[in-house]
Amino acid sequence: MRKRVAVIGAGNVGATLAEHIVMSGLADVVLYDIVEDLPQGKALDMLEATPLWGVSVDVKGTNELKDIEGSDVVVITAGAARKPGMSRDDLLNINAQVVGSVSEAVKQYAPEAVIIVVTNPMDVMAQLCWKTTGFPYKRVMGMGGVLDAARFRTFVSMALGVSQTDIEALVLGGHGDQMVPMPRFTTVRGVSITKLLDKETIDKLIERTRNGGAEIVSLLKKGSAYYAPAASTFQMVRAILLDEKRMLPAAAYLDGEYGVKGIYMGVPVILGQGGVERVVELELNDEEREALQRSVEAVKTLVDKLNL
Ligand code: NAI
Ligand code: 2OP
Repeated sequence: MRKRVAVIGAGNVGATLAEHIVMSGLADVVLYDIVEDLPQGKALDMLEATPLWGVSVDVKGTNELKDIEGSDVVVITAGAARKPGMSRDDLLNINAQVVGSVSEAVKQYAPEAVIIVVTNPMDVMAQLCWKTTGFPYKRVMGMGGVLDAARFRTFVSMALGVSQTDIEALVLGGHGDQMVPMPRFTTVRGVSITKLLDKETIDKLIERTRNGGAEIVSLLKKGSAYYAPAASTFQMVRAILLDEKRMLPAAAYLDGEYGVKGIYMGVPVILGQGGVERVVELELNDEEREALQRSVEAVKTLVDKLNL
């Protein structure tokens, strides 16, 4: 039987993600939104592209949450996106209501699903989703690190004049202004960028990565980034559906790893059919540990605001 992915929120990220999944032929897609006819229209448009893409999967748009029944993976992209001048954290209260109610529905209709939360502020929304569903924490995660690392890879590639595909990067911490790009673990075919670029240049690339989301918001004027976010989420969906055991950064519940207990935080994980199959613990130096701790504190502040 074909796998099934529910995408909650048929906006920029959700619809672009649905397009990736359908175009790849990986799974059937159910696209849900509260706006009447919007998911139906986008789904039909995508379905009409399937003969051209040469795939035989189904895509259905709906305004009924019960249609997500039987989904193997649920991706939550519903909610408001940033406007110029807003931080991800400004979306806290608006999006907590949306993610809370959607999570209740996932618990009811797709109790066996693995959930990927994209809605911002993502780390705290993942925590809210986990609390609301009561799912084992390995089946609830957030997308942020893959995107932040993709941005870091892009900027390193631009600085070195080397193909993006030859660069691996790691960004830890929350998907917010305190994220922690990790130059020591960012390499060009195995060579750390600390050996290839001077500190001043690396610091600029780190700053641009931290501001990567805001840079796109200020260019678009309306809405926030969605091509790279959708591609990043697709990489995670694929790793889960195909049980790839990929090591990717994701917001995962920490139960003592990295000295952090009881909150969602961006760390490298092994992603497979069961969701976050394990957290990979890296040996951090003092500077990296302190930066991660600052990011933990920033996420904790928001978690406390929602009394999670
Ligand atoms: P968008 O505004 O294009 O789409 C959001 C969609 O959610 C809209 O179609 C809206 O009708 C729908 N929606 C609102 N309330 C809903 C509800 N209760 N149930 C179902 N659907 C509902 O926004 P976009 O660009 O797709 O971003 C979505 C979210 O993802 C935002 O919170 C954004 O900040 C976040 N985001 C997170 C990223 C990450 O790395 N974690 C990257 C990019 C975006
Ligand atoms: C981004 O990083 C808005 O979180 C979103 O582009």
